[in-house]
Amino acid sequence: MPVLEKGMVLDNRQVASDLYVMDFVAPSMAQKCQPGQFLHIRSNGTYDPLLRRPLSIYDVLADSCIISLLYRVVGRGTALLTGIDIDNKIDIMGPLGKGFTLPDSPESILLVGGGVGAAPLMFLARQLINIGCKVTLLLGSATAEQLVPGQRFATLGVKVKTASMDGTDGYHGLITDLLMLEDPSLYKRLYTCGPEAMMAKVSGWAIQNNVPGELSLEEHMACGVGACLGCARQLNPNQNQYAKICMDGPVFDIKSFSTIPNPIQGGSSHE
Ligand code: FES
Repeated sequence: MPVLEKGMVLDNRQVASDLYVMDFVAPSMAQKCQPGQFLHIRSNGTYDPLLRRPLSIYDVLADSCIISLLYRVVGRGTALLTGIDIDNKIDIMGPLGKGFTLPDSPESILLVGGGVGAAPLMFLARQLINIGCKVTLLLGSATAEQLVPGQRFATLGVKVKTASMDGTDGYHGLITDLLMLEDPSLYKRLYTCGPEAMMAKVSGWAIQNNVPGELSLEEHMACGVGACLGCARQLNPNQNQYAKICMDGPVFDIKSFSTIPNPIQGGSSHE
């Protein structure tokens, strides 16, 4: 059951060219969050902009009740978020949606994150490491300046490999090309989040190599609780079946998306 809470902001800092991390204390919510779920945030204390913003949960330190959000500035709502100072309170609803399925026992796991889409993978990596998994992360972006910081993952014990399209960090090229260099027999499971064209290729690689996995979809979400139908979309062009991304997802089995009908343009749960 989602809760409404006012979170006390501890930090709100720029971590890459257009990426920010906000840490806040929310005792009730922090105990309920699962990796892959999202929160609905009001950008400031007023009703302007009217709608809440859906933002993926980046990380949770349950013992200290601290939740972190990683967001990209793409419009007025997220620009307003950057102006929230330490000790101010933010209005949060959540956690919302269906998160990632964790393995029952320690496994070797591959994570693939593109751009700010890597946001939900941080809390997932923390939980996977906690249950004894060996975790490798492929992290990609256009340039080094736009890369989600890998250090926080590495501190947990995650093996981090980066790719940038201009060659300024790690592998020079697409993250999906870096993926092709991986030996699929090393991995029991895969999780991915990022641009849908990227996730389509990642899912295709996993399915072809019999690596089960899940992906997290980004979508405009007005209500976040299944009431407005604004996030409903066809999961597979061959099936006349629609899903509410906010409730049925945002996490889905990769087999649901071997063919992706509607690549998203614009705002998402990370922006
Ligand atoms: Fe309203 Fe999903 S955002 S139904």
